[in-house]
Amino acid sequence: MSDRQFKSLAWWPTSILTLEQPDARELNAGLRRIILEMEREIVRKGKPLKVAGLEEGLSTLWLEYNVLNWDYDECRELRRLVLEGYGAFIETLGMAGDPGMEITGISCWANILRPGQSLTLHHHDPAFASAHYTVTTGWEDGTLVDSAEAGHTIYYRPGFMDRSHGGKANGISSLWDDDWRISRAPKPGNMIFFPSYLRHEVRPNVGTNERISIAMDIFVKKQELPMYFGGPRWFVPATEDDVVRQVI
Ligand SMILES: [Fe+2]
Repeated sequence: MSDRQFKSLAWWPTSILTLEQPDARELNAGLRRIILEMEREIVRKGKPLKVAGLEEGLSTLWLEYNVLNWDYDECRELRRLVLEGYGAFIETLGMAGDPGMEITGISCWANILRPGQSLTLHHHDPAFASAHYTVTTGWEDGTLVDSAEAGHTIYYRPGFMDRSHGGKANGISSLWDDDWRISRAPKPGNMIFFPSYLRHEVRPNVGTNERISIAMDIFVKKQELPMYFGGPRWFVPATEDDVVRQVI
């Protein structure tokens, strides 16, 4: 009898969790109004930092506010979605119940891409998990033909960018290799959770309105980061209700 054993493991899997909400029209109308209103106030006094190709606007002031802390019912609703989604996300990772997965802080900001604007390739390291929520697509008036991946978020296979840029070993990807990028059109009310190291970009908005999304970075206890999760940038789950929603 042989002692040989094969074991199936999934090391460094890329788990994704999506939420689809076909009836989020009212929530999104509220979030849109709030974000455009807050933009005026925040942009007036903030100091922009260049982010993913943008030099001004709410994305560039992401360290100065947190959408989850805004005092509106719509933001409280979003907070519930985020915490429940996070709970479901770590469950897919097989980490539910691990005290190290408890949230230490969430940074949450809004991206308003006006016609012609895009977000260039980036990732969200050193956060543990990230998510984005679509509020508007930019083409609500129906003027845009959904072509050329306008306004799409494109996710790149982990490792692909590292293998394929620069150096003598740089080469074209195999012709059969069609999973190196995944392109998704924005859908209002949808949210996607992903590991923060996953590189992605948003193709230019060629609609006639703003393409608005809400993005967030989730940090957890296991990371033991020497960071202070206080001040306007952070939302920290504090109430019993918030903590229970993490389902851990
Ligand atoms: Fe991003």
